[in-house]
This record gives sequence, structure tokens and C-alpha cells, in this order.
Amino acid sequence: MKTSGNTVLITGGGSGIGLALTEALMRSGNQVVICGRRRDRLKAVQARMSGVYFRVCDVSKARSRQALVDWLLSEFRQLNVLINNAGIQRQVNFLKGPKDLREADNEVATNLMAPIHLSAQLLSHLRGKKEAAIVNISSGLAFTPLAFVPVYCATKAAVHSWSLSLRHQLRNTSVRVFEVAPPMVATELAGERNRPEVGDYVMSAEAVADGVLKALDQNQYEIALGAAANLLAERDSLFSAINR
Ligand SMILES: NC(=O)c1ccc[n+]([C@@H]2O[C@H](COP(=O)([O-])OP(=O)(O)OC[C@H]3O[C@@H](n4cnc5c(N)ncnc54)[C@H](OP(=O)(O)O)[C@@H]3O)[C@@H](O)[C@H]2O)c1
Repeated sequence: MKTSGNTVLITGGGSGIGLALTEALMRSGNQVVICGRRRDRLKAVQARMSGVYFRVCDVSKARSRQALVDWLLSEFRQLNVLINNAGIQRQVNFLKGPKDLREADNEVATNLMAPIHLSAQLLSHLRGKKEAAIVNISSGLAFTPLAFVPVYCATKAAVHSWSLSLRHQLRNTSVRVFEVAPPMVATELAGERNRPEVGDYVMSAEAVADGVLKALDQNQYEIALGAAANLLAERDSLFSAINR
């Protein structure tokens, strides 16, 4: 897959991994469109990088998604890459009963249903392009859950499963399906005050963006980065061990 000359939509492009992807894709000579809920974040990215287009959109809401798709299909007919990156992560303690589940529906809507719907809504357009891609940002936690964010992990496991099926269904089309599973990344995913430092197990958002571009360049359709690679490898070896 080429890594320049694309027109790319990055959901959640105003911060973290999405922002690093915006920078990397702009540097490589792509047209980039970003969306998110916070206008100020999106405007700040555009102020720093002229040439980035943005639209305020809550991808967890059907009407907001449809408005985004209508806008894209009228203004960016050359769109050929969708990066499903927007995500949220919440702690859920089942010992507290249903109270802690208030945010869970939104987690499922944002992390799982939004990528599924956006991909379905854009697919016939993408199929009309000579070279096109859907890139799903999953997580190492798709393979081994972290119990205090149980719904988040379940959504990422589901994104992994859905990516496999989508890749298979689209195998004879021009649309390639990529899944990139980062390890823990130094972003605000767990909240502004809980941003981890880059270290042995924590990657920078920029390194994740490099990994995505490398995956595209080398047609590596499923890639786990940094410490997430161990989680995927262990799952694969356990799977072969119990399925002899
Ligand atoms: N950080 C990690 O450790 C890690 C590890 C593995 C995978 N990931 C995945 O990487 C992706 C990016 O996360 P990040 O780490 O970069 O965190 P982040 O900095 O919090 O970025 C998440 C982005 O998603 C956007 N977003 C959230 N809900 C949205 C909605 N309903 N509609 C539109 N945009 C929405 C946010 O913008 P607004 O708030 O303005 O909407 C934000 O720009 C996520 O899918 C996450 O699960 C992260």
C-alpha cells in the first residue's frame, strides 16, 4: 500500500496516536482529514499544520457519523483510507453493580460500533478506488485483558475479531484491511492526569504512527507493536499448543 498521495480520514485525530498519525501522514505527502468531539483540539492541529481539514463529529452517534460521511463524500471524493482510531477507556468495577456501567454503552459505541458503521458507510466509496485501506487501531489488550478496564478490552477483542472477518470478506476487492495493536502508549486515553511516561512497556504516539506507516508500506495486515507483540505471540503459541 502506498504511504503518500492518499486522502485519509483519521477519527480522533486531535490528540494522542491520531495526532501523531496526522503529523506522520502529512510529512509523507498525504491529504489528511481529522475528526473528534473537541473543536478546540481540532482547530489547534489545523493551526499547527495548515492543509489539515477537520470536522467536529461524535462517532458514537449515528446522526453525527452520517453528517461526517455526507460531508466527506461531497468534499473529499478522493478519500481512499479510513483510520478507525477514536477510542475511550473507562474503569468498570462489577462489584459496584450496574452503577459503574454508565459509560460502558458509550465505550462499545465508540470503540466498536463506530468503526463498524463508518467502514460499512464508506465501503462502496472505497471500493471505487484503485488502492484503498481501512486501518483499525485495536490494542494488545485485545489478546490479554487488563481486568480493571474490562469493557474496553472486550471492545478491542471484538475489533480484532471483526478485522479478521472484514479482511476476509474484502479479500477480492481493492480495499486492504489493517489492524494495528499498540501496547500502552503515552497519551491521555486513561485521563489527562494518568498519562504514562514513555519507557520499557510504554510507547510514544509517534512510534505507533511510524508502526502504522510501516504496516501500510509493507502490507503487514495484522501488526502488534512493542510489548503488544509479546501478548499476540503468547496467544498464538497457546492457541497452537491446545489445538494440536
Ligand atoms: N494509549 C494507549 O495506551 C493505547 C493502547 C492501545 C490502543 N490504543 C488505542 O489508540 C486509539 C487512540 O487513543 P489514544 O491513546 O491516542 O488516546 P487519546 O489521546 O485519548 O485519543 C483518543 C481520541 O479519540 C477521540 N474520540 C474519543 N471519543 C470520540 C467520539 N465519540 N467521537 C469522535 N472522536 C472521539 C478523542 O477526541 P475528542 O475527545 O475530542 O472526541 C481523541 O482525540 C484508541 O482507539 C485507543 O483505544 C491506545
